[in-house]
Amino acid sequence: MRKAIWVPGGRGQVGTELARVCPPENVLVAPTSHQVDITDPKATTAALGRFAAAAREFGLPPVVVNAAAYTDADAAESDERRAFRVNALGAGHLAAACREHGVPLIYLSTDYVFDGTAAEPYEASALANPLNAYGRTKLAGERAVLNSGAEAWVVRTAWVYSTHSVNFVRTMARLERERDEVAVVDDQTGSPTSAADLASGLLSLAGRVAEGAGPAERVLHYVNTGRASWYELARTVFGLLGADPRRVRPCTSAEFGRPARRPAYSVLSVRAWAASGLPAPRPWQAALPEVTAALRAERAGEGRAVQRA
Ligand SMILES: NC(=O)c1ccc[n+]([C@@H]2O[C@H](COP(=O)([O-])OP(=O)(O)OC[C@H]3O[C@@H](n4cnc5c(N)ncnc54)[C@H](OP(=O)(O)O)[C@@H]3O)[C@@H](O)[C@H]2O)c1
Repeated sequence: MRKAIWVPGGRGQVGTELARVCPPENVLVAPTSHQVDITDPKATTAALGRFAAAAREFGLPPVVVNAAAYTDADAAESDERRAFRVNALGAGHLAAACREHGVPLIYLSTDYVFDGTAAEPYEASALANPLNAYGRTKLAGERAVLNSGAEAWVVRTAWVYSTHSVNFVRTMARLERERDEVAVVDDQTGSPTSAADLASGLLSLAGRVAEGAGPAERVLHYVNTGRASWYELARTVFGLLGADPRRVRPCTSAEFGRPARRPAYSVLSVRAWAASGLPAPRPWQAALPEVTAALRAERAGEGRAVQRA
């Protein structure tokens, strides 16, 4: 179904992919944080009102995907108030605006709402117990959205990467060039997820929601299936880039010493997503080569440019 999608935080990693993969029969508007700041309730409500009115004039049902977030988990440890302002209060303001204008909302959340003590993939209904400030603010955002009275869905995802923005796969590609050896933590296991796959999944969900046939389950997970530690993921990235995976060395989270504690195990189950009739995600090993191939092509292009210069 044709739809009009409004994506605050649209210039971030997921927002950029949503705009890239959105079929042209739809309208997608992705305001920057300067154009729409979700911590400003009045401006957010007014901007959504204008968008929804224009969409309806063109006969397109409006849907909001909230991709606006404070996502620096380490920085959030020393600035939880700022993270809370965006991830919880901002999410609540946007949800209130959606309720006011009768627009359904999809809120993106994270595997970091879980404490990592599970031994099996976390179901969407599993008890959340965040270990870090970022996870606490995102969980508060989930609750604000679900209690707002808006027609809303929460979609948790994890370990997102793409050909652009700051993400683990790009960092590994950079370090592969800069260092002989790279130490990567091997005691955190999760669900590496392609931003492009996530964006396609979100568009499927948005389509269902726009038809008035959104899933009964209000909390869903979307990740590529399977599991990996950061170390296993890094080795796979090296291999796909044509580098020797033995240059990646395992280390522990304690050795790495980052401010935010992370769950040891945060693999997400997509059972509820698939049971809702939404297209099942593919394994991470199938999705990753598309991004590493693009990164290799980018490198080859840079090499040719250097030769010409
Ligand atoms: N990346 C991951 O691995 C991952 C994993 C799990 C869940 N998620 C969730 O997925 C969603 C999207 O993540 P992402 O990777 O796309 O993050 P991102 O690249 O950091 O993008 C976040 C965007 O939000 C914008 N933003 C920040 N404060 C805002 C405000 N007050 N008003 C409006 N926009 C604001 C940022 O704009 P500025 O740059 O201008 O501040 C940025 O464009 C988030 O909800 C995140 O929690 C991500």
